[in-house]
Amino acid sequence: MEAITAIYTRQSTKDFIEGKQISSEDLSTILKCGMTAPVGMRRYDTLHLTVVQSKELLDEIMDISDMRTAERPHAPLYKAPTIILVSSRFEREDHIEYANVACVIENMTIAATALGLGSVYLWSVIRVLKNNPGLLQKFNLPEGFVPVSVLALGYPATPFTPKDGPRHEIEVNYIK
Ligand SMILES: Cc1cc2nc3c(=O)[nH]c(=O)nc-3n(C[C@H](O)[C@H](O)[C@H](O)COP(=O)(O)O)c2cc1C
Repeated sequence: MEAITAIYTRQSTKDFIEGKQISSEDLSTILKCGMTAPVGMRRYDTLHLTVVQSKELLDEIMDISDMRTAERPHAPLYKAPTIILVSSRFEREDHIEYANVACVIENMTIAATALGLGSVYLWSVIRVLKNNPGLLQKFNLPEGFVPVSVLALGYPATPFTPKDGPRHEIEVNYIK
């Protein structure tokens, strides 16, 4: 898929096909696109990616989080078979690390879209990890790294069709 089309087409998947795993080739491409994101002062060493495909660990997150509601019975992971946790070492007072992580996640979500995969940026899961040290320990993060954001990946239950324009609007002012 062409880049602009992939950007217009990207949408959050909140219903993945249960048990349909993404291929290792697609996962590798998505990770490499994440690694290609812009990062302030080229501090790629302050970032870390953790791929989780263990059903046991994904089920544990679901059980501990207990965010299921009538409208979202499969929250917070929506049956995704793969999640990628992006962690960072925090070194700067201005917290540029959050912007770095968002760039990595966004690159990966566009790549997933271009590959025909569903994805969703998950902030809520971070609170679950931070509130449950025993669960976080299972992610084997390197010393000093803090979980910042999660990207869930899989096949969308309802496949999306390519879009040729934006689905949302943000107000713009021009100064000429
Ligand atoms: C920083 C960030 C955090 C988000 N966290 C969550 C989340 O925890 N749970 C969730 O269901 N969706 C989450 N989303 C997805 C948004 O709900 C979604 O992007 C928004 O509703 C726009 O819809 P779209 O992505 O389909 O265009 C998050 C998105 C962003 C950018």
